[in-house]
Amino acid sequence: MRALVTGGGSGIGAAVAHRLADDGFDVTVADLEPEGTATELGASALRLDVRDEAQVAQAMDGVDVLVNAAGIGSTADAPGTSLEVWEDVFAVNARGTFLCCKHVIPGMKARGGGAIVNVASVAGLVGLKNRVAYSASKGAVIALTRALAVDHVGDGIRVNAVCPGTIDTPWVQRLVSDAGESLDALRARQPMGRLGTPEEVADAVLYLTTAEFATGTILTIDGGLTAA
Ligand SMILES: NC(=O)c1ccc[n+]([C@@H]2O[C@H](COP(=O)([O-])OP(=O)(O)OC[C@H]3O[C@@H](n4cnc5c(N)ncnc54)[C@H](O)[C@@H]3O)[C@@H](O)[C@H]2O)c1
Repeated sequence: MRALVTGGGSGIGAAVAHRLADDGFDVTVADLEPEGTATELGASALRLDVRDEAQVAQAMDGVDVLVNAAGIGSTADAPGTSLEVWEDVFAVNARGTFLCCKHVIPGMKARGGGAIVNVASVAGLVGLKNRVAYSASKGAVIALTRALAVDHVGDGIRVNAVCPGTIDTPWVQRLVSDAGESLDALRARQPMGRLGTPEEVADAVLYLTTAEFATGTILTIDGGLTAA
């Protein structure tokens, strides 16, 4: 089975690529910078910008399992969010996920089925402070996941999403070093009092790639953040 992981060059996507490779998938790491993870795994590296429809259309040929983990963030409230930032965040998180799904589905359908897992976020489910563009883009990913699940259930294509809480990746390290956020506060907002690991999210993604009765599932993996 061929699996393609966008955002596979770092963090959650890299852990997913490792997990799927360990499970026997033939993995393609698709990212702006795919080489590091791909070399570690002996997997195929594909330089892909998920915002670019022509690149995405070429990338999706023969893919049985697609994991959309490419994403970018933003840390501001609405008055502090420029239109440019809003559009940049939506271009990667919402449009990129849409384009990858759009172009992978025809091949999956022709081969009798497939599985898509979108990496959304708890920010798409509950209000988090200073995440307005990011939250809205992840809400779009969640709605897209459900809409695709219903449209393609008859094609044998399952479409699910994970909603991670705060996970210890280079992204969160940048929130602390560049955006000045407090690591203690990020830990404390999760009832477990710690960050999740990329591997814990990868386990949830692997589950959704193989859970034959699951489609349209939005699986939180968040140390209790949305339960509180
Ligand atoms: N880390 C968290 O706390 C957290 C929580 C919830 C959801 N998420 C989501 O998980 C996903 C991965 O985040 P992460 O924490 O591993 O971040 P990360 O920054 O470590 O990795 C993101 C990857 O996406 C790639 N990427 C960015 N723009 C791209 C583009 N246009 N085309 C292709 N690749 C692109 C980057 O090169 C990078 O390798 C994101 O969608 C993010 O929104 C992260």
